[in-house]
Amino acid sequence: MASAQGSDRKFKVAIVGATGAVGATLLQILAERKFPASCVVALASARSAGSEVEFGRRSLVVQDLEQYDFNGTDIALFSAGGDIAAKHAPRAAAAGCYVIDNSSKFRYVDEIPLVVAEVNPDTIAMAREGRIIANPNCSTMQMLVALAPIHRQVGIERINVATYQSVSGAGRSAMEELGRQTAAMLSFQSPKIERFPVQIAFNVIPQIDRFEGNGYTREEMKMVWETQKILDPAIKVNPTAVRVPVFYGHAEAVHLETAEPISVAQVRELMRTASGVELVDEAVAGGYPTPVTHAAGNDPVYVGRLRKDLSHSRGLSMWIVADNIRKGAALNAIQIAELLVEHYL
Ligand code: A2P
Repeated sequence: MASAQGSDRKFKVAIVGATGAVGATLLQILAERKFPASCVVALASARSAGSEVEFGRRSLVVQDLEQYDFNGTDIALFSAGGDIAAKHAPRAAAAGCYVIDNSSKFRYVDEIPLVVAEVNPDTIAMAREGRIIANPNCSTMQMLVALAPIHRQVGIERINVATYQSVSGAGRSAMEELGRQTAAMLSFQSPKIERFPVQIAFNVIPQIDRFEGNGYTREEMKMVWETQKILDPAIKVNPTAVRVPVFYGHAEAVHLETAEPISVAQVRELMRTASGVELVDEAVAGGYPTPVTHAAGNDPVYVGRLRKDLSHSRGLSMWIVADNIRKGAALNAIQIAELLVEHYL
């Protein structure tokens, strides 16, 4: 296996959707982590071509994706939605470029790896030929970073989860809508509803993405399908996905049933040593993570409110919080790019 580790090799990287919420964070994290890039290309729609985006202390001029030739580009980080991925990821891959796609377009294709850097990094090898790697859904991502160590230790049979998901997960326009609706309400005007099915300001909405035939939403089914693909097809998952008027950071109330018993002290120890996890768990006011106090702008997946489920002998309850734009999207994509550089390019 070729390895770029320890070498001075540098790689040409393209960011597709560079003007979006995740795109901006991809650029920020590439600069923060000093990714070995010889050149970073910012791509978006023709509408944005010629505008500028920040990359560390520099700015990059945005180019039109439609006109871009991927020959010679080593890695393309896509965050422009499923339709754009469907159209442009295959042509990038055919040009020899590794694509890491943040949309759900390729997540359920058997031959395409769906990778959480801390959980199943070895599956990246499956992309040697096809060159496309899928980045999981943000809610699944943070849940599995915390739950994988428990599953490895004692087996998880079933997960009940309710999510509290911030509006940034729905993109820049959704954040703008929360801002506008909040300002309107505070000045006694009626809020305009465009991006969400009902008012999001001062409200919570038990629908993310469209409804499937079984009464669950697609966001909820993503958590089922992706947990089974990434961690174990035998795990049963029962999610309720809820949008809340928070800008950055998803929270999850997770109730799980394990195959073998495990004590809270043992889980605490697992969380202390788990890669990517930070335990914040004191039974005092504020002794738990929240999107605002911990997650927003930070890398770890925070775990708190760990306790034995009073109603089940092998049940555990916990609260998992992370920045949905960082670990839930951009950071994991860049961790995958780092693994590509280290082992596959
Ligand atoms: P643009 O700003 O040119 O529309 P978000 O999820 O935050 O809304 O971001 C979506 C990203 O996807 C933006 O960078 C957006 O670029 C990009 N995008 C949308 N449509 C296209 C397209 N047809 N071609 C390339 N990029 C697109």
